[in-house]
Amino acid sequence: MFNVRIITKYTFQMGLLITSNRLDMLKLMDADDNKSKRLVSLMKKRGFIQPAFELYGGVAGLYDYGPLGGRLRRNVISKWLNHWISLGNIVEIDSPTITPEPVLKASGHIGAFNDYASECKSCNSIFRTDHLLEGYHNNPDALDNIALDNELLKNKIPCPSCNKSEWLPSEPLNLMFSTIIGANKGGRKAFMRPETAQGMFLQFPSIYRHFRGKLPFGAVQVGKGYRNEISPRQGMIRLREFNMAELEYFIDPEKDINYNLDLWDDVQIKLVPDPGKDELTEKRYTIYNAVKEGVVRDQTVGWFMIKTFELMLELGINNEYIRFRQHEQDEMAHYATDCWDLEIYGSYGWIECVGIANRGCYDLKAHQNVTKSNELKAWRDFENELEIEKYVCSPIQSIVGPRFKEKSKLISDHLEKLDASKINFPFIINIGGEEISIEENMVEIKKVNSIERGEWFTPHVVEPAFGIDRIIWHILEHSFTETSKENDDYYTILKLRNKICPIDFSVYPLFEKDGLDKIALKIIDSIREIDGINVNYDGTKSIGRRYARGDEIGVPYAITIDHQTIDDNTVTLRDRDSQEQKRMSIEELLLFISKY
Ligand code: GLY
Repeated sequence: MFNVRIITKYTFQMGLLITSNRLDMLKLMDADDNKSKRLVSLMKKRGFIQPAFELYGGVAGLYDYGPLGGRLRRNVISKWLNHWISLGNIVEIDSPTITPEPVLKASGHIGAFNDYASECKSCNSIFRTDHLLEGYHNNPDALDNIALDNELLKNKIPCPSCNKSEWLPSEPLNLMFSTIIGANKGGRKAFMRPETAQGMFLQFPSIYRHFRGKLPFGAVQVGKGYRNEISPRQGMIRLREFNMAELEYFIDPEKDINYNLDLWDDVQIKLVPDPGKDELTEKRYTIYNAVKEGVVRDQTVGWFMIKTFELMLELGINNEYIRFRQHEQDEMAHYATDCWDLEIYGSYGWIECVGIANRGCYDLKAHQNVTKSNELKAWRDFENELEIEKYVCSPIQSIVGPRFKEKSKLISDHLEKLDASKINFPFIINIGGEEISIEENMVEIKKVNSIERGEWFTPHVVEPAFGIDRIIWHILEHSFTETSKENDDYYTILKLRNKICPIDFSVYPLFEKDGLDKIALKIIDSIREIDGINVNYDGTKSIGRRYARGDEIGVPYAITIDHQTIDDNTVTLRDRDSQEQKRMSIEELLLFISKY
């Protein structure tokens, strides 16, 4: 399963081929320049993305995907899902976005999922403290509250609202949106999920059964996540409700997995390792060498880095603008022991778009501790059987049976699996969500000799977590090209990759008369019979205007019907990027589209 190398040399070279043009393009672009503003305006005008609730004044951090953006988002998600599910040992699951409080207490999100915020003494505006320090410190995200306050003072950071420089001590603010399940009074406290991951940890027993206990395996989930950001800015980069796509990969930490990392020995990726240094140093590595030299400590993390890099190229991200940066110890999420961010360069600088975290056994253990469930474990066979002496807990049926009736079998099974040398009475077990107290008179502790064939252990988890909106933003930026300027008007081409673009083909009758429009509609009907193709009809304004409209929304091919079509059944096919036109028969066209 692991030696399937999906990236082809060709795909990778495609990434290289487009580099030089795009380097020039991006060097010119930053969030405040006019090119960036023209992209934002195009996105809004043509229905890709725009601030939500604008008729009511808008809400920072909430965005709409319009008719074209909605399709683009769906295509990116489909590509993402196929990329992982095609590996064969990864399944898609779905869980609720509303999460009861105890789950997030166990996971550490209540308590540790905070950002530091600073309040201006003068105008009472509140900002994320690390954001105030951008440009003054190379990684303010890694500082604690004392260090943050010192940096504010030392650099005399002005308040973005009133320009004064007097700050109250920074304070941690929890980022989750809270809600109540049921009626306010007596309802259950809950939160909108801050990550999809917890749903996958809680479904571990079902995924484990699905794969008949054979690790490694993974689950993916795509859906909304919520974070009540303190002061969202940066358009699509920092949202309060956003599209997440996460993968939890469950492994046995004691088993070596061969990922055949040498298959990617011609792919150099930029790494920024050694966190904590004043100067970030970027160095290119093959992932094989990075793992061999210990720069990337875990081979599963390394494997996900290269697979994620592949996916980014397939989505149309420029390879020169991808790097992996290792987290500093203090920057890491509370559950992680190591984390590499895939950062993409664009008009906002280097932005974290994917985090590949080693979560160890943090989450499964945390849920075991609270729920006392035995189901969040996996079985590992020993290489050789062991003969051991042990203490087991044997339920006294005359007490357990009458007291727990139909549940007594489940309770007995649970008790028999426990290591009785570690038990203190009374103790609690969890059976189907119910907490049951086991007292000393309910069981007999027996010493037995047994043959052990294996053991239960808590799997470790490596998690690549993707911010879909941030990736989409960078796909748009890296695809946005302006080729010429006439009377202050730019000719715009959105060079979206095939299959990512919202519309695959546009059909244009030269005129909407003489039967040309009817032929166009008939061709559209035939194209619609081909699975997965999105085709569009456009009959208004000059053909040049229509080509321009198609180019600026990234339609890769235009099909034009003219009077010659009536005579010989041929059409022209125009390529968006080269703008070359080819005349071909309708049969040839349909064959081309079916291979698209
Ligand atoms: N699950 C990764 C994150 O919350 O960022």
